[in-house]
Amino acid sequence: MSLFRKPSEINIEDYVIATYYLETPMKIEEAAEALAAEQSSGTWQRVGYETDELREKYAAKVLDIKVLDKNIESPSLPSAIKMEEFASPSGDVEYNVAILKIAFPYINFGPKMPNLFTAVAGNVFEMAAFTAIKLLDLEFPKTYLKEFKGPRFGIKGTRDVLGVYERPLVGAIIKPCVGLSTDDLAQLAYEGAKGGLDFIKDDELIADTKYSTLKERSKKVMAALMRAEEETGEKTMYAFNLTDRVDRIKELHDIVVGNGANCVMINVATAGISAMRVLAEYSEVPIHCHRDFAPAWSRSQYVGISAQLLTKLFRLAGADQIHIGAIAGKLYESDEEVLKSIEECANDLGDITLSLPVSSGGQWAGKTPVNLRKIGHSDFLHLSGGGIYAHPGGAEAGARSVRQAWDATLKGIKLEEYAKEKEELATGIRHYVKVLY
Ligand code: 6PG
Repeated sequence: MSLFRKPSEINIEDYVIATYYLETPMKIEEAAEALAAEQSSGTWQRVGYETDELREKYAAKVLDIKVLDKNIESPSLPSAIKMEEFASPSGDVEYNVAILKIAFPYINFGPKMPNLFTAVAGNVFEMAAFTAIKLLDLEFPKTYLKEFKGPRFGIKGTRDVLGVYERPLVGAIIKPCVGLSTDDLAQLAYEGAKGGLDFIKDDELIADTKYSTLKERSKKVMAALMRAEEETGEKTMYAFNLTDRVDRIKELHDIVVGNGANCVMINVATAGISAMRVLAEYSEVPIHCHRDFAPAWSRSQYVGISAQLLTKLFRLAGADQIHIGAIAGKLYESDEEVLKSIEECANDLGDITLSLPVSSGGQWAGKTPVNLRKIGHSDFLHLSGGGIYAHPGGAEAGARSVRQAWDATLKGIKLEEYAKEKEELATGIRHYVKVLY
């Protein structure tokens, strides 16, 4: 029994549909069917109990193959297999490239992230005859989406904590990333908040350490932010990094929230997406989702999972704020790719709330115009580390320079012009130099 089906021949509500980029020296139809079989009921040989009835209900089905016209001369990924095995009688090995749509019956894995990953993104990456294989997208039926709670706070919930609605949120990452005493870190948080930051966060590299326990850090930082709020009248959110052994995350949440924390953070790829989901269903405050390590899955065009799909999955698993790369920043993606990830924070996912995209990596005041022009709306968090904490006037001046830049950008005034009246912005431009429009 073949595993090829037209979309009209299956009940779409029973399936998660995966889109792959595949390169293979195999015949493309055979490769597609092998992929569907290997990732569901089958293996390289048809076994006795794999009846047609079993296959009909539990096997993945190939819905579509779009052949791409590419001239590939050698395998894009390393592989132990001898490619000559696939040579035509003339001795040539041809690499076939296609976009595949494979439908996975979710009865096999349910609405559980680890099992979903195993089905659609498990062994498939190690098949020797797949010389490039990347999971580009997943489409979920309504019944499946209903099993996920998604973000509890999202864009609106984050804005509600701060009472800021009309502009991008302005944030900073405490630098140096590690090594600060809790007193120094709280002081840097205080200075940033005094300068007008809506949001400050732990770097992804600092966690619950001997020299900076979350207990002490959260107590001191929240006291410092309270002091700043009394002086400025503006609230600041602080994201404490709870990334740890899975069995400690809830305990750490309770410690920081007990000390007044209004945001927590998790390194989703290293802690695990399922760990984040558990936290999201438990947390009393918004979750800031840092994606470090995830680019090891997304960066190659030949293997892994697309950054856009990862963003979609992080949102589904409950991330309120998601790192999506940086507009005109220092990270690997083009702005066009970053924009696609931003779209994933708001694309239709049934009842799942919108997540707040975070543009971070090489940002400073001079990147505000290009961020607004490219993103085209204000629903994002603009986050700078060195762009605030390396400002020659200190953290308060650094924060102020970015707020001033946003004032100018939203009014359509050139930063260089606005800086004639604003010292911190002027110093920032002299220091970081190139304003990007
Ligand atoms: C974070 C940071 C972190 C990194 C960035 C930003 O959120 O913890 O994004 O991943 O340090 O590169 O730092 P800069 O703004 O200094 O580039």
